[in-house]
Amino acid sequence: MIMLEKIKAIKEEIAAAQAVNKEAVEQLRIKYLSKKGAVSELMSEFRNVPAEQKRELGQKINELKAFVTERIARLKESFELADEVAADDIDLTRTASPLPLGTRHPLSLVKKEILRIFAGMGFTIAEGPEIEDDWHVFESLNFPPDHPARDMQDTFFIGRTPVDVLLRTHTSSVQTRVMEHTRPPIRIVCPGRVYRNEAISARAHCFFHQVEGLYIDKNVSFADLKQVLLGFARQMFGPETKIRLRPSYFPFTEPSAEMDISCDICGGKGCGFCKYTGWVEILGCGMVDPNVLKACGIDPEVYSGYAFGMGIERITNLKYKVKDLRMFSENDVRFLREFEAAH
Ligand code: DAH
Repeated sequence: MIMLEKIKAIKEEIAAAQAVNKEAVEQLRIKYLSKKGAVSELMSEFRNVPAEQKRELGQKINELKAFVTERIARLKESFELADEVAADDIDLTRTASPLPLGTRHPLSLVKKEILRIFAGMGFTIAEGPEIEDDWHVFESLNFPPDHPARDMQDTFFIGRTPVDVLLRTHTSSVQTRVMEHTRPPIRIVCPGRVYRNEAISARAHCFFHQVEGLYIDKNVSFADLKQVLLGFARQMFGPETKIRLRPSYFPFTEPSAEMDISCDICGGKGCGFCKYTGWVEILGCGMVDPNVLKACGIDPEVYSGYAFGMGIERITNLKYKVKDLRMFSENDVRFLREFEAAH
């Protein structure tokens, strides 16, 4: 009987036993399971037990031994786990896992480069709203009332009262925004997104990006325009780049021109990229029409100026040979990652 009580007592003791650390667990192991431990002691006492009790007591002692062994193993395990976690928490020398970093979008890279070049020539940055009114996008820029660009087919109209509200179709609207509030000299570049009602394809998109340029002062001439654009083309596409200006028409400039650069793929000899002309078109430009100056309260008898506008996608096409416009807005990371090195 005494033995049964001892077994019960040890079981209760070990069931309630706690340990503050691994050493305390080891103490428990010694106390119960070592050669001189409580369980071993029971085993030696077992030898003196009368034969008829041996079966029952033997079973109980074996059960107790298994219980104690299991309990101590569990306690030990919990400290090993805690050790691991603690070591993890404080290992300041461990290499951090790499954070996946994004890359700059190719259009942002090219926009930044365009703005950097013009900043070097004294231009400051101006921006305007994407949601505009008819006055800033068309009327102030000398578009006749029946000009096709005003047509629903080109322009996304948002509302019609009291004035037409629309998504700007070009960043030339920022010219007027600035000229209304600033007196010359004005020398600005205006980056931004523009919208046109076009079916999306490799060569057209319903939104794209432009940089507009404007310089208004006394005695600004076409020669100034040409020099600035030549400087831009050489910095953007390399010092050997040639430019040529072809007469063109825009309502807000007179005279107007379109500028080509020598094809940097064939060096001007003619290839598939430049359609065997040796030249690729990159922007529109001209001398600001006196009507535009007047519309903004600037006296065309005193001031003159030039303006130019280019598509950022177009410049990016030329610089990085991206053929399909849709790539710019699909955000396929495999495409975007290709510009990592260009940072
Ligand atoms: N706004 C024109 C367009 O979207 C581009 C342009 C042409 C801007 C000639 C100008 C310019 O300032 O002088 O096609």
